[in-house]
Amino acid sequence: MVLETSKLPKHVAIIMDGNGRWAKKQGLPRIYGHQKGVEVAKKIITKTWELGIPVLTLFAFSKENWERPKEEITALFELLKVYLDNELENLKEKEICFKVIGDKEDFPKDVQEKLSLVERITEKYNKLILCMALSYGGRAEILKATRQIAERVKKNEIDLIEINEELFRKFLYTKDLPDPDLLIRTSGEMRISNFLIFQSAYTEFYFTEVCWPEFTEEEYLKALLSYQQRIRKFGRVYEF
Ligand code: FPP
Repeated sequence: MVLETSKLPKHVAIIMDGNGRWAKKQGLPRIYGHQKGVEVAKKIITKTWELGIPVLTLFAFSKENWERPKEEITALFELLKVYLDNELENLKEKEICFKVIGDKEDFPKDVQEKLSLVERITEKYNKLILCMALSYGGRAEILKATRQIAERVKKNEIDLIEINEELFRKFLYTKDLPDPDLLIRTSGEMRISNFLIFQSAYTEFYFTEVCWPEFTEEEYLKALLSYQQRIRKFGRVYEF
């Protein structure tokens, strides 16, 4: 079966799960799984760019991940910093816009500064929007939006009657992005884990047993092919 380029998703979101389990199976410390995970992420980013899919969101660090051992968190920050240092030229060359969704201010100052710098340098690009979910949680995002809207209502800047889906979206991290069409989760877990919960109301899900460090371009194409076979009804009746 061949991919139909006219029917590709506009936004793919990925929960890159299973790094730790993969490493354990090899008898290696968890961080090796994350290291391999970064390499896989780079390949999938390139493939997404080659296919011309406009938006890719990667769940790289959740709000809940702060509960992990301190050494693992520190090692993840180091990987992220090295990724940003090494990839900036590549992002520029491929005209990829790098964007963070989540609470950047939760991160140490040096990580925050690097993220902001790469965001600033690449903000003019549009060949691909590479969205990295960092210290991200869907419930926290919804609550933050609600609080901001309530503050505006209190100051009489927004009238209650104006609060609708369109307005609400403007207060989400994803305000400039389309909803994900396809959400992929690796490692056999079949849940959404607080990822883009508002935005994924009509998203197609694809779950695979493959752990993220073993996720290949072929596996990615399988997910895209599966997406192309779905009939998306958005709550309406489909006319055959
Ligand atoms: C899940 O594996 C993965 C994470 C918590 C995020 C780590 C993500 C990467 C290393 C890729 C980051 C990409 C870039 C480009 C910086 P897990 O530890 O939850 O695995 P487990 O469920 O097997 O324990």
